[in-house]
Amino acid sequence: MRNPATLLVILFALLFRAITRLIVKTEQHSPLKIGHRGAAGYCPENTISSFQKALELGADYLELDIQMTKDGELVVIHDSTVNRTTNGKGKVMDFTLPEIQNLDAGSWFHRKFAGEKIPSLSEVFDEFAGKIGFLIELKKPSLYPLIEEKLAEELMKREFTTGDRQIIVQSFDRESLKRFHELLPSIPIGILVRNAGLKMISNKNLKSFASYVSYVNPKISMVNKRMIKRIHLHGFKTIIWTVKRKNDLKAIKNLHVEGIVSDFPDLS
Ligand code: G3P
Ligand code: CA
Repeated sequence: MRNPATLLVILFALLFRAITRLIVKTEQHSPLKIGHRGAAGYCPENTISSFQKALELGADYLELDIQMTKDGELVVIHDSTVNRTTNGKGKVMDFTLPEIQNLDAGSWFHRKFAGEKIPSLSEVFDEFAGKIGFLIELKKPSLYPLIEEKLAEELMKREFTTGDRQIIVQSFDRESLKRFHELLPSIPIGILVRNAGLKMISNKNLKSFASYVSYVNPKISMVNKRMIKRIHLHGFKTIIWTVKRKNDLKAIKNLHVEGIVSDFPDLS
């Protein structure tokens, strides 16, 4: 028969082990917080202010969209024209970098953001690399021949060449993702899927992604428990987009997804 002191020590040890396991388990299942276009609910999307806000709100990653200017520079903007988010008009591809950076990308959201610029990808990296991860979306890459090469060059220049440097590249465009993966196979790839693409998550398609994809990222409105389970069973991680309100979070609670993209990265 052990004495009471020994029993107490054993009890404490067991309790400590149970608590540690619980903490590890909770951490494992807490999804990455990813700020959509920065913190698009609070600031003009895809601007330095928006990215700064997401960082301050505790985001783990910045989601951002890239396109290419006439002079071959990667710029961070969602649409292929500047019409919606600046005071200018025209296609991104018809501006040089200095021309596009002359536009005001903040006033449309609120006058307090007047003078905000469309940042180049390089400027975003200068400001935020090492502080937060990046979920980079190749937006309409078919409009921009060689955009995959440009992105790969930029990442290599900055030695973002291993999977642990917090870069994920995603797109709806599978061909573009394949090309990028050939150029820089160490960077994890995410394939975006929206409602019209339900068939894309068939078992057959999931199998065909295996050679180049790490994440299968469905739109929140199409997500259900079975789908997430199937994505996981095929060995992929998943990032859900885009949470805009608290109720959205309720819907995906307990699905054990790896990441959640939100306009309000502080929502919980
Ligand atoms: O992260 C996915 C999401 O950003 C895709 O939709 O239109 O906001 O670029 P969109
Ligand atoms: Ca995006």
